[in-house]
Amino acid sequence: MPELLGTPATGVVVTGGASGIGRACALALATAGRPVAVWDVEDAGAAATVKECAALGVAAHGEHVDVRERAQIIAAVEPSLAALGSIGGLVHAAGMVRPALDDVIDADTWDFVLDVNLRAHGLIVSALLPALRAANPGSAVVGIASIEGLIGHGGIPSYVASKHGLIGLSRSLAHRLGPEGIRANAVCPGYIETPMLSPAIATPGSREKLERTVPLGRLAHPDEVARVVRFLLSDEASYVNGSAIVVDGGVTAVGGQEFGGTLD
Ligand SMILES: NC(=O)c1ccc[n+]([C@@H]2O[C@H](COP(=O)([O-])OP(=O)(O)OC[C@H]3O[C@@H](n4cnc5c(N)ncnc54)[C@H](O)[C@@H]3O)[C@@H](O)[C@H]2O)c1
Repeated sequence: MPELLGTPATGVVVTGGASGIGRACALALATAGRPVAVWDVEDAGAAATVKECAALGVAAHGEHVDVRERAQIIAAVEPSLAALGSIGGLVHAAGMVRPALDDVIDADTWDFVLDVNLRAHGLIVSALLPALRAANPGSAVVGIASIEGLIGHGGIPSYVASKHGLIGLSRSLAHRLGPEGIRANAVCPGYIETPMLSPAIATPGSREKLERTVPLGRLAHPDEVARVVRFLLSDEASYVNGSAIVVDGGVTAVGGQEFGGTLD
């Protein structure tokens, strides 16, 4: 069925597109000819991504959006639609991690992290639904979760809860929107070299310690996540719905065990 192999040319909203994985997703999508709207609070970074996408020959647009704010999300839809011509995709890559304070679950950290990482995905899908329906067939949404959507971590319980929740939300969206042909999936990155990971590899030896838990023996470039996201938003993934795709070099497959590369 060769007609399924093409990537729809519909526009994609990328939250968190000013940096890291979101930026890589915006560029990967633009490379495939898809118009991109970057929604972020970091205006300079967003503008730089928009400029790079436009240089690849697609319509590109930036909006200042704090994804915790429903009014800002709703206000960004119409100008993005006008600039892109259509919106048939979403990547929710805006995210943040905050360590737990002494009492483990402090309300401010909990609300902040859950609002950005989880609640926003639901609000944005809702706000974009008329556009996603109009751009169908082929519309799809992707939430950037984490391997911490699959395992626990005592240092960052709110982050872990938000990412487990994002996978649950993605599965529920797959159930709710699947009958319309709109697909919803989550991607679970492992250790990706972005500003978010910097504190974890800042101290001497910490990077190497992390790398020893990855069967592929290295951290990932954000492009390696972006290419999977681009696939999920394309008709190449026409029967992938409700999945949580792990992109972690094998970390979770082996439970984070270190291995020296020899059985001797
Ligand atoms: N880097 C990793 O190792 C890793 C691993 C697993 C999952 N992730 C997830 O990938 C996503 C992207 O992270 P990254 O590593 O690229 O981090 P990053 O810090 O480089 O980028 C995050 C982006 O989100 C934006 N953002 C934060 N809060 C926002 C808000 N309220 N409104 C709008 N934009 C906001 C930031 O301005 C930034 O541009 C996050 O959801 C993160 O949890 C990252």
